[in-house]
Amino acid sequence: MAEKPIILVTGSSGNIGSATVGVLAARYADKVEIRAGVRNPDKIPARPGVTVVQAVMGDKDQLREPLKDVDAVFIVTPTAEDRAALTIKTAEAAKEAGVKFILIVSAPSMTHPDGRVEYLPTCTIFGKQYHEIDSQIPKLGVPYAFLRLSIFMENNFGKKDTIVDQSTFYASQSPDKPAIYVAVEDAAKAAAAILTDYSKHNGKEYNMHSDCYTNAELAAAFTEALGKEVKFVQVPPETAKQAMVGKGWSEWHVDGILEMLELIEEGDSILTVGDTCTLRSLTGEEPTSMKEWVTKNAPSFK
Ligand SMILES: NC(=O)c1ccc[n+]([C@@H]2O[C@H](COP(=O)([O-])OP(=O)(O)OC[C@H]3O[C@@H](n4cnc5c(N)ncnc54)[C@H](OP(=O)(O)O)[C@@H]3O)[C@@H](O)[C@H]2O)c1
Repeated sequence: MAEKPIILVTGSSGNIGSATVGVLAARYADKVEIRAGVRNPDKIPARPGVTVVQAVMGDKDQLREPLKDVDAVFIVTPTAEDRAALTIKTAEAAKEAGVKFILIVSAPSMTHPDGRVEYLPTCTIFGKQYHEIDSQIPKLGVPYAFLRLSIFMENNFGKKDTIVDQSTFYASQSPDKPAIYVAVEDAAKAAAAILTDYSKHNGKEYNMHSDCYTNAELAAAFTEALGKEVKFVQVPPETAKQAMVGKGWSEWHVDGILEMLELIEEGDSILTVGDTCTLRSLTGEEPTSMKEWVTKNAPSFK
């Protein structure tokens, strides 16, 4: 019997990495060997059909062993100030190890009707980081694809405490400004489909959006799902910043998020317009709507 291709997912302790390993194990375990790469292997639970390996993004010497014999690697770009360097070094290590395909998490792009492609402005913190990744990876000469992720629906868990205690959530956007969101599970399903059939995806860019919605609509969805009125209250950016820094988030990251919220407030198409057909085209499944996500996760907000 032919050996199964080996897939390595780095950052397997995070949202996207963990969900992707879960989808690979549930759907494709008969087709591929799955390596879950993590800095500290004790950090993630053992799963049937998954080999947990130490894989330190950015550390080329350390990555030699986990990348041995790997066919396709999913580099889940970490939330780190030097994420561009960490990601590019990891991709270089993959090239040196003879990996045949690299899938990388990047930021959304937007194709205008005239064919022009827009990316996050490079004057923003995230835009600069992702621009470096986007421009360096194709130069490696290894087949690759980008999984371009919009805002995670799972960020809603950050609203949990005030929804539980005050039936209210706070953010700096206006209530009626829409933004594009992706459910982590949808991104994971797409990643797993690409990785397990990688020869079809060289040079492709997949923008993953599950739904587009406003904070007023989100409040209405929580109101319906929880059976109590949930209000949205807009706060000044400085108040939002203090709240995020107070939760222990790094200042560069919070400043990057506030820049993204400003783009949403301005109605910039990069974060406010997007079609939801990618998942359908890759797996035939419908993306998760905001209402479905809220309904499914409502017990966590009670
Ligand atoms: N939240 C959003 O709305 C949103 C939207 C679009 C894109 N993104 C971006 O999408 C990417 C994936 O999101 P995520 O939530 O799955 O990521 P994450 O949990 O922030 O990071 C992924 C993994 O990277 C590893 N890591 C973190 N810092 C590292 C460092 N300094 N050196 C090496 N490895 C490091 C950790 O894995 P191990 O400990 O397992 O090694 C972590 O679990 C991130 O870059 C995130 O910023 C987020």
